Amino acid sequence: MRACARVTGWGKYLPERILTNEDLSHMVETSDEWIRSRTGIAARRIAGAHETTASMAIRAARQALAVAGLAPQKLDLIIVATATPEHLFPATACLVQDALGAAHAGAFDLSAGCAGFIYGLSVAAEMIAAGTYRNILVIGAETLSRIVNWRDRNTCVLFGDGAGAVVLQPGQGDGGVLASVLGADGSGGHLLAIPAGGSKLPASPATIEKGQHYIHMDGREVYRFATRVIARAARDVASAAGIKLDDVELFIPHQANMRIIESAIKDLGIARDRVYVNLQRYGNTSAASIPIALCEAVEEGRLQPGDHALLVGFGAGLTWGAVMLHWGVPTPIPPVPRWRRLLHWAGYRLASLRSLAIRVARKVDAWLGQPLNGKSK
Ligand code: ACO
Repeated sequence: MRACARVTGWGKYLPERILTNEDLSHMVETSDEWIRSRTGIAARRIAGAHETTASMAIRAARQALAVAGLAPQKLDLIIVATATPEHLFPATACLVQDALGAAHAGAFDLSAGCAGFIYGLSVAAEMIAAGTYRNILVIGAETLSRIVNWRDRNTCVLFGDGAGAVVLQPGQGDGGVLASVLGADGSGGHLLAIPAGGSKLPASPATIEKGQHYIHMDGREVYRFATRVIARAARDVASAAGIKLDDVELFIPHQANMRIIESAIKDLGIARDRVYVNLQRYGNTSAASIPIALCEAVEEGRLQPGDHALLVGFGAGLTWGAVMLHWGVPTPIPPVPRWRRLLHWAGYRLASLRSLAIRVARKVDAWLGQPLNGKSK
């Protein structure tokens, strides 16, 4: 029997600082009324000066590993879906791997805009189903506040920062990822883009002067695209999983805009009480939005063993995708005991020491002229 990838751990991290619509109305020409009525957003979280995409991803990952009761050394793969990586390279996933002390894990970043987490979940589930890997960490993490033009009211009111993570492990006949669908339409890439800073248009004083290192978006076109693809992806994944939409207990759409969600669920004939929405608190956190919402839905007891959850995302690329989950973990889970939290804390301190030791060893090797493979120069 083909293994099914089950979600066995989940975690999230949201920065403390809250930026309300009222705060924004002092920064650009906008109002609480405009933002709420056009998007449903009331507030968003903004990363502190020392917080980054990796640091938030690490916090969410640690929680997810604790819930799964899985040691980082047992991880086979770490995928970080993000549109705001720490650097063009190295991958943010490698920084997470080092900080967790996941010594046996491969790690890569995945760029699929706001659909990134869905893409990551789909890839990870297939790797588990194929028997390639057993323990995979999929993270969606974003620091969008660093790529938003805070003088552009068309975009700055929409986005927020945060991270969410899940642990996937194989299960047999007791729930998991039943099906996934992915899609892309690169002809609409320019509708939501950061024009400069890549190899086509490297960052320069001229690109900075023109604000080309910020998010540029054609809001109306993205809106039209989103309302079309959510319904299509939801129907496709339901059909691929052999599940009727009526039998789905919870829909978890990408949290971009309440009007987009309402339009899609109207098209699908889904009642509002079967849809999880938290965008009023966090705004659009791109690849982090679905794992944060999944995590909160579980914490609030909205998913019980045997339930079906349909996750659906869309974003820059243009990309879209959906995953049908058969939930298998009883919730709420008991809190992690204090002794185990202490053990985790000690494990992560050891991971920092391990990282330091490897860096020092690398320096000493270079100094002695001894490459790590043992052959002398
Ligand atoms: N406050 C006040 N007025 C504003 C603001 C603001 N924050 N932003 C735009 N306006 C103005 C515009 O300038 C325009 O004025 P004008 O008529 O004088 O030119 C007017 O409001 C109407 O603008 P529209 O663009 O027509 O407003 P619309 O109702 O379409 O809402 C919005 C704009 C919210 C951006 C909508 O188009 C939308 O949600 N699009 C999808 C955006 C999205 O979800 N992007 C991300 C998805 S993918 C991802 O997550 C990466």
